Amino acid sequence: MWFKRMLIEKESPEEYGYEKIKYNLTESSVTDCNLDELNVNLGNLSIAYGNHSGEPELRELIAQEYDGLSADQVLITSGAAAALFIVAVSLLKPGDHIIVAHPNYASNIEVPRSLGCKVDFLNLRFEENFKLNLDELEDLITPETKIVSLTYPNNPTGTMISAETLERVIEIVESHNCHLLFDETYREMTFGHKLPTAASLSPKAISVESLSKSYGLPGIRIGWLATKDKSLKELLLAAKEQISICNSIVDEKIALSVLKRKDKFMNNIKQNIQAKFKIITAWMDTQRDLKWIQPEGGVVCFPKIKSDININLNDFYQILNEKYKTFVGPGRWFEMDDKYFRIGYGWPLEENLEIGLKNITRAFQDTKQ
Ligand SMILES: Cc1ncc(COP(=O)(O)O)c(C=O)c1O
Repeated sequence: MWFKRMLIEKESPEEYGYEKIKYNLTESSVTDCNLDELNVNLGNLSIAYGNHSGEPELRELIAQEYDGLSADQVLITSGAAAALFIVAVSLLKPGDHIIVAHPNYASNIEVPRSLGCKVDFLNLRFEENFKLNLDELEDLITPETKIVSLTYPNNPTGTMISAETLERVIEIVESHNCHLLFDETYREMTFGHKLPTAASLSPKAISVESLSKSYGLPGIRIGWLATKDKSLKELLLAAKEQISICNSIVDEKIALSVLKRKDKFMNNIKQNIQAKFKIITAWMDTQRDLKWIQPEGGVVCFPKIKSDININLNDFYQILNEKYKTFVGPGRWFEMDDKYFRIGYGWPLEENLEIGLKNITRAFQDTKQ
């Protein structure tokens, strides 16, 4: 077993230094909140260990999104990242087979790989509108498969699957007696109807979500896992206890206060996303060098530089970063060609988004000259 740093983390804006980036189009979350806006009263909170599964009232609020599940079937984790890690170390041994949709958030691939698993990609291809191909899933799955790992709304493409497709995936997973790890981190930012939470559909499905992206709260490190399977919950709790015992109770208190006011927060956030989605759609409509699959959720998209555009990609990114102080997420962050890049349009203020997008166009022009 070994770990290596993932490019998406090594090259992340927080590691590079936010102060060095003027137009940050790399983030996959809405604009970060600050404590003043949140208006949370921490009171005279005793800084004791918290409940190991997570603050009970917080879990109760979360469980409301999961039909047929109670607070006992929810486990609070340090962000969705820790949730993904906990599932992997709990269910996978070296040599086990896992199928992971690709492209995907890097941890969904790298953690099983670090554990020495055999990782097969279920490819989402630009030419096929990044659609999930169920026939390919059926071809890849074997009696040895332990987990099928999907992320919807997808990062980095922003694409979705239908509720029927999710149900079909669950049937396939159940018939092979393995688990579906369903990363729903962006669920609240679905443009149309939200999918049912996967964990509410089957004891074989594990849902992962967090407050980082949809609420702009990545710094409090609050995410969760949900499963109908009580013995699995116990196993996941054992892993969590061995990592951190419990969560930060300060983080949990902030999360609880925000989730109690969920409707108010989400209404504002959704309006904000819609306004920014209009900006990026209008910009994409004018791009001759780029094509995209229009996203259906989240705050990211994954355009591709057209094949007949002959530019030096290193020069393009260098000019974009150094001359225009504008950053996007290059394809390599997702084990894809750098002809693709992720634009996070939900995080920057509208005026910065507009300038950042114009800078991408300018960097193309400069590189082509
Ligand atoms: C799909 C997905 N899952 C999980 C995470 C981890 O997020 P966090 O640990 O902040 O909740 C990310 C972060 O980019 C993500 O995109």
